[in-house]
Amino acid sequence: MHYSWNVLDPAVMGDETTMHALFRRLREHDPVCLVEHPDFEPFWAITKHEDIKAISQNNAAFLNNPRTVLIQREFERALLAQFGTRNGLETLIHMDDPKHRKLRNVTREWFKPGPIKKLQGNMKTIARQYVDKMEAMNGECDFVKDIALLYPLRIIMSIIGVVPEEEAMMLKLTQELFGGQDPSQSRGGNADDGLAVLMDFFAYFTAVVEDRKKHPTDDLASVLANALVDGQPMEQLDQISYFIITATAGHDTTSATISGGMKALLEHPEQLEKLRGRPELATSAAREMIRWVSPVRHMMRTTTDDIVLRGKSLKAGDSLCMWYPSANRDSDAIDNPDTFDIERDNRNQLAFGYGGHMCLGQHLAVLEVELFFRELLPRLKHIEMAAEPEWVQAIFVGGLKSMPVRYAFR
Ligand code: HEM
Repeated sequence: MHYSWNVLDPAVMGDETTMHALFRRLREHDPVCLVEHPDFEPFWAITKHEDIKAISQNNAAFLNNPRTVLIQREFERALLAQFGTRNGLETLIHMDDPKHRKLRNVTREWFKPGPIKKLQGNMKTIARQYVDKMEAMNGECDFVKDIALLYPLRIIMSIIGVVPEEEAMMLKLTQELFGGQDPSQSRGGNADDGLAVLMDFFAYFTAVVEDRKKHPTDDLASVLANALVDGQPMEQLDQISYFIITATAGHDTTSATISGGMKALLEHPEQLEKLRGRPELATSAAREMIRWVSPVRHMMRTTTDDIVLRGKSLKAGDSLCMWYPSANRDSDAIDNPDTFDIERDNRNQLAFGYGGHMCLGQHLAVLEVELFFRELLPRLKHIEMAAEPEWVQAIFVGGLKSMPVRYAFR
């Protein structure tokens, strides 16, 4: 077994220590590494910041379709049979221009800093509710399960327009979709189970679209249900896929950042004290948490031409897999990358990707993380870890599964 196969091992990739050790080795010894594993179609693992940035910004030469994330060969085949594409669903992240640009434009305004700031009041209220919940739990909780998983979910669901009673079901579906390799979170081990999860998403959002066509409100669901593309109503499949990408991309990632950010603060008490004393650092701290955690482990691209990258010859049609956590710990691009520093200038980090597909929800994500810690820290007298944290086993979106904490409020 070649050591590069470990990028496909959910246990290695789930845990930040083993993951970063692997990426360090790849960056130093084989930064453009061909991975040939029996269960996956071959791909090139790209681990240097400079390469990931260059690939991401050239959307004409490196396409998102047909292979956007790493999926086992058997599941890719099942998706091909069911949907006619290896990606299964075609969401924004699976599309290329011109369609990508047109569909991204449908919600571009919604996700800009100005409109997002307008949601701040509602988001603060939700942050307060979860900090209140923590306070009511009498000094002990599982920070991941009780708080960090739920707060971003409520926010994205309130933005989309999903009512609180249906959130638990959405959370389960998302975990089944993204945490599919973690035995404790998947519905079942085989391809049929994965497809069943997708079909459940379809059924749910089809009903939402029908409702907002009849009764439009000011939520995102109404924007999507009534949007025009090239003067025509959006295709139903595009609409449903849009819901799925915003609902799914919009909470697991932010949850993982909040829990991983809290873990980083606990392990760097001087940073925790600094943030508590200087709340104006909350935005910069949120950005550092996002770099530190880099919850989206990878995205893929397909080359349109033969290219040579760091001496390796890639053929047109080859798959490239860009590992964001590795880019964000690359000392050629980021000073002292293994230091958690809430005052760092984070303009160069790649946790949100780069170029035409750069995260649509990035301003929302930063604000969510920031608002949560702004609410929590002034009320907290003391906090410590109460047991070893556990990681989700995943190679796509990773993060903590559990982190028991003990604390006292003021
Ligand atoms: C810390 C939290 C988050 C991280 C680290 C993150 C990361 C990413 C990354 C790496 C990409 C792919 C970029 C590329 O290919 O260049 C992406 C795309 C995307 N993200 Fe996020 N994301 C986060 C939160 C959110 C939130 C809150 C939303 C809200 C809806 C969201 C919505 C999206 C969408 C719709 C795309 C697809 C954009 C496109 O392909 O045009 N993300 N995100």
